[in-house]
Amino acid sequence: MPFSLPDLPYSYDALAPYMSRETLEFHHDKHHLAYVNNGNNLMKGTEFENRPLEDVVKSSYFGNPGLFNNSGQHYNHVHFWKWMKPGGGGNMPGNLETQIIADFRSVAKMKEDFIQAGVTQFGSGWCWLAVKFGKIEVMKTPNGESPLVHGARPILGCDVWEHSYYIDYRNRRSDYLKAFVENLVNWEYVAEMYEAAR
Ligand SMILES: [Fe+2]
Repeated sequence: MPFSLPDLPYSYDALAPYMSRETLEFHHDKHHLAYVNNGNNLMKGTEFENRPLEDVVKSSYFGNPGLFNNSGQHYNHVHFWKWMKPGGGGNMPGNLETQIIADFRSVAKMKEDFIQAGVTQFGSGWCWLAVKFGKIEVMKTPNGESPLVHGARPILGCDVWEHSYYIDYRNRRSDYLKAFVENLVNWEYVAEMYEAAR
């Protein structure tokens, strides 16, 4: 099945002032679309063409860097739009909160570690919450990689490529990450992915 660009689950203005219409127009309509188109061109006529997205990501990781970069970024962005919502941040569902407190001691410590992972990812990449061996961990990955290719299941990711924040925050990546955690995260969707990953 070819990749297709999903619609944003909210309007282009819905995440302002934390993420502007201009950022979403460039990031969704141009950057994500390019990953979709490049991925489809690279898959055409190959063994990957009719495989599910996660399978394409995992099996292209070794030996097909062009397809991996584009399918990996398609996977990451499909979820990234859903990991945010207008009026996000705030409280999270109890099942998720219980596990986070067990693994990080507090929600505040988890947020601190997540932001730190994003700030210290050198160059382009992502920071994550992922489920590995039944525990929730903070991870960071370069470029289009995700926990999927490191033996874990992603449940939250923040895009720290400059295209994700430079229009709104310029070089202030840590301010972007704080706004993401405190004002944008859709914790219900994170909890849904956590339940599926357990
Ligand atoms: Fe991106």
